Amino acid sequence: MHPVLATSETKAVPIHLVDRASWPGLRETLDPAAVAFAEAAGFEPRPGRHALLPSAEGALAGVLFGVDPQDRPGRDPFLPGRLPALLPAGTYRFEGPLAEPRLAALAFALGAYRFTRYRSGNDRTEIHLVPPDGAGDDLSSVIEAAYLARDLVNTPSNEMGPFELEEATRTLAAKHGATVRSIVGDALLNDDFPLIHAVGRSSARAPRLIDLTWGDADAPKVTLVGKGVCFDTGGLDLKPESAMRLMKKDMGGAANVLAAAHMIMSRGLKVRLRVLIPAVENAVSGNAFRPLDVYRSRKGLTVEIGNTDAEGRLVLADALTLADEEVPDLLVDMGTLTGAARVALGPDLPPFYTADDALAAALARHAAAEHDPLWRMPLWAPYDAMLESKVADIDNVATGGFAGSIVCALFLQRFVSAAKSWVHFDIFAWTPATKPGKPEGGECQAARALCALLAERYR
Ligand code: BES
Ligand code: MN
Ligand code: ZN
Repeated sequence: MHPVLATSETKAVPIHLVDRASWPGLRETLDPAAVAFAEAAGFEPRPGRHALLPSAEGALAGVLFGVDPQDRPGRDPFLPGRLPALLPAGTYRFEGPLAEPRLAALAFALGAYRFTRYRSGNDRTEIHLVPPDGAGDDLSSVIEAAYLARDLVNTPSNEMGPFELEEATRTLAAKHGATVRSIVGDALLNDDFPLIHAVGRSSARAPRLIDLTWGDADAPKVTLVGKGVCFDTGGLDLKPESAMRLMKKDMGGAANVLAAAHMIMSRGLKVRLRVLIPAVENAVSGNAFRPLDVYRSRKGLTVEIGNTDAEGRLVLADALTLADEEVPDLLVDMGTLTGAARVALGPDLPPFYTADDALAAALARHAAAEHDPLWRMPLWAPYDAMLESKVADIDNVATGGFAGSIVCALFLQRFVSAAKSWVHFDIFAWTPATKPGKPEGGECQAARALCALLAERYR
């Protein structure tokens, strides 16, 4: 069980989620002195407002928290995620019927996250929640997964290089009895991963392809590929400082496929799971790959490097090719691939791309149900022409600079041909400013929705 979850009801302080409609009825059931105190302190049943209710002895007897009216769902379903920051240390439970118990519990638990690795003081409030009925059997693993993804992304690059990403994968694998293999450094050339090697060779920290497998070899094959760029300087086409600053998060795709893998393995889904992480640092040195270099990819397609900053699609291309070779039932990739995806949809709504309409519809449904928002964007075939190279089979960037996220998806699509179904997520993996349930920093995106879909298909 995740430490934010409490096992016992005893002494848990009740939290009442109230709106304008439910407040008068609830008010009648509470201690009049406590209500008088809350109202004297300015409590109103408006979204985001809260009050602590005293007992006759002056102890903490309960909490009031205003939520959006049920008939008018609000702008932020994660509002109860503010509670951990408002409450003193202790164990809490939600009192009374909840419209969405899973959402309330998830919001609370995700709002309790703090990145404390480098804090010498003890700034973590010991706060716990008794999971409400109906929160789902998988609640704990969902919370663990989100914390894992956030921790991996938040850990600065000096302590989260390709080696440490492999270590994190091995730690996760050990928990679930999964197997990990890794191809490191120049072995990438011998084993035919030229693009992963080209991007990663300039770093003092050896590039690698991390390969985790788990589950019954005869079960349907689900393969997750995550972009593991442990820092993205942009390579020789260097990023300006404002753009480079956040690039410790460029392994967010890897963090999120590991989060998804944790949920899949915890739930024991009937799949043969494979996780592939091309882990590299896009650095600058004398042997860095260069603009207009040409490399033959594992797939056989030659790729001209229009820009060394479009490195994520390069490392994913070789990993996708390997994944595709065993004809998986479902091939998924995730990565922080383009700034353009953020321009189109903002930080909280990752686009996904697939040619499989049934998969797209199911994903949209689970994204809504799990409050893990996703939006389908098109694999717009006419834009394929933008990737034409004058010397090679394909360029890694488009001429013109329009439709950057779509163009990236079209690039990746060239490397998938056998998988029965393929979906690509262009995620951000980061919350730029704290919102309820989403502390500023690394974020788990798309993994929960994906996992809900897999649970429905392969339970
Ligand atoms: N890791 C970046 C994309 C990125 C930047 C994601 C900022 C989220 C926030 C990626 O490797 C990259 O640099 N992409 C380029 C592509 C361009 C050179 C075609 C971009 O988006 O500018
Ligand atoms: Mn880049
Ligand atoms: Zn990148």
